[in-house]
Amino acid sequence: ELSPIDTAKFAAARRAVDLVQDGMKLGLGTGSTAAWMVRCLAERVREEGLRVQGVPTSTRTADLARALGIQVVTLDEAKWLDLTIDGADEFDADFNLIKGGGAALLQEKIVATASDRMVVIADAAKEVAHLGAFPLPVEVIPFGWQSTKMLIEETLEGMDVLGREVTLRLSGDAPLLTDEKNYILDLHLKRIGEPRQLGVALNQIAGVVENGLFIDICDTVVVGHGDGRVSLRD
Ligand code: A5P
Repeated sequence: ELSPIDTAKFAAARRAVDLVQDGMKLGLGTGSTAAWMVRCLAERVREEGLRVQGVPTSTRTADLARALGIQVVTLDEAKWLDLTIDGADEFDADFNLIKGGGAALLQEKIVATASDRMVVIADAAKEVAHLGAFPLPVEVIPFGWQSTKMLIEETLEGMDVLGREVTLRLSGDAPLLTDEKNYILDLHLKRIGEPRQLGVALNQIAGVVENGLFIDICDTVVVGHGDGRVSLRD
């Protein structure tokens, strides 16, 4: 028996996997919802003999996909993808997203932007009127990260946001390391007035590798509900 939240995630994932066609090159997202997608995809590969190549967005997803018998290739081998299916931490009415709650935002953004289509799968609770209640993850180079953090704080002074606290993400007592061996700073902004402007400003700072705002990247959102209903929006 699945909980309502897992029912919602599973329903969205299964609907999105219906979009996959034989021969496609796919971006495989990261997180608990994306893990459902990988399981549903593996089932189609097993049962229908669907031939797909998957480019994972994290070592976690790579391990899961391989274990379930999905052919895994690198982005450099695939070069360009037909479709990426990934979760999100928040999405708004314009399909702008916050991602990176699972620390995989850098590879997720590279893979999503190298795809003809990006489909987000999410439970209904992730829809927001304004992005920012979920802390915005920013991936930074470990070298000089405290100076980078100060520059981020200074940048936030001029931005249309409600909160300005910046925290280093930890794993136990040590800084969490991303797959690319970088750190994550979480920006507690509460409400982001101008996501596009903020995303551009953050990526101007030396030491910032990428931020978790996905602007004009997502094409379709598949929303799952606790009773198993789904709605697909383009
Ligand atoms: C991973 O870095 C994130 O971008 C995930 O896609 C996001 O955190 C959603 O995860 P869940 O599906 O587990 O909520």
